[in-house]
Amino acid sequence: MRMKKKEKLMNSNLSTIKEGNAEFYIHTTDKDSIPSKSMIVFYNQKMEINRDVSNLAIMAYDRVYNQHPLIIVDSMAASGISSIRILKDCKNVKKIYINDINPIAVDLINKNLSLNGIYNHPAHIEVSRKEANYLFSEIAQNSYTSSNNRPQKPNVISIDPFGTPNLYIDGAFKAIQKVDGLLCITATDTAVLFGVRPKSCIRKYMSKPLHTEFCKEIGARILIYFISRIANVNKMGIIPLLTFYSSHFLRVFCLTFKNRKKISQYFKDYGYLIHCNNCGYYSTFRDNILGLPNHCPICKEFNHIEYAGPLWVNEIHDLRFINEMILLNQEFQYRNKKRISKLLNLIQEEIKMHPFYYNIHKLSKNLKLSNIPKLDTILTSIRRKGYKISRTHFDFLSIKTNMDIISIKNMLLEL
Ligand SMILES: C[S@@+](CC[C@H](N)C(=O)[O-])C[C@H]1O[C@@H](n2cnc3c(N)ncnc32)[C@H](O)[C@@H]1O
Repeated sequence: MRMKKKEKLMNSNLSTIKEGNAEFYIHTTDKDSIPSKSMIVFYNQKMEINRDVSNLAIMAYDRVYNQHPLIIVDSMAASGISSIRILKDCKNVKKIYINDINPIAVDLINKNLSLNGIYNHPAHIEVSRKEANYLFSEIAQNSYTSSNNRPQKPNVISIDPFGTPNLYIDGAFKAIQKVDGLLCITATDTAVLFGVRPKSCIRKYMSKPLHTEFCKEIGARILIYFISRIANVNKMGIIPLLTFYSSHFLRVFCLTFKNRKKISQYFKDYGYLIHCNNCGYYSTFRDNILGLPNHCPICKEFNHIEYAGPLWVNEIHDLRFINEMILLNQEFQYRNKKRISKLLNLIQEEIKMHPFYYNIHKLSKNLKLSNIPKLDTILTSIRRKGYKISRTHFDFLSIKTNMDIISIKNMLLEL
């Protein structure tokens, strides 16, 4: 343990916090510090919405896609708050692995289970201090070696690391139920995925990002592409059920499948993005990289065309799943209920819309407009002209539409 952490630990008492239906301890010195690796045990109050959404997502999965009792792996549990919350809210949990590599976290997890009276819970609870990949390989190994009465593989695995999840995805695919398993993956290395550090993105995710006005969605699609390719290596595929961005993190929930023909069919979901940083045109291409245009089809410029990818170019959410989450959000009284409702409604709008979006402020600035038209006025105007349009949760000042860039600019000038 690093000296600073040891000193902090010696000076720290425990404080209690309430989140959802759970109460839990964190170290008092961690309570007011900026969330970071140097906390005694990690806790980020701003991630409460992430844990709310994760709870709703697991319960929606249980209702819509799951046929069995739930076996959940919370591979990076910190205080254990996510595990405790799902144990409190979901009635179908048969077993849960609550794991963290930090020994003080494991001690806190045990204290938090007692505080919430969870030891009387009917689910089998296994608390461990293991490296996440070691835990995944143990779970995978157990399911291979017990010939009779093969243990059911986990149907839900959560990966919530500091920074990139890239190192843990292969292990998770080896451990999870191959058909209709739910993987929940967080990435907080947004500077990498959003194109501020492009070389790191190529190294970590094997894909070129782009730092444009819609870089958040590009980053999300690179992450899904990467998860899907690692699934393919493991003879599996994925269907994204929900992809969301909030306060500097991305979280993807995806369903596993195992069918060679279907996996090959899903290759058409890998593609590229072309963007012209002169006129703002963009489009996705399902071709390979050699088929990409070398100049902008709108302004005909050669020097301003740039690309991102490979990335996922198909749907990033599943309507049935989102609808179920909306219903569940109405049933539960989470503190973030209103924010979650807004988030899920925007996500619902994004389904069946084109990838990526136009930022109205950026376009208005380029057109030197003195007054920026209201988003509602733009939505009505584009809809009236017969085009598809929606807002997006990635950026509240942007629109998704199939209207072309020239018509959008003309319309903004008219408004
Ligand atoms: C971002 S925190 C997790 C937050 C937690 N899921 C929550 O909702 O509060 C990351 C946690 O992963 C743990 N960790 C980091 N690397 C790990 C690894 N390789 N295996 C297992 N745990 C790890 C850290 O000790 C830390 O507690």
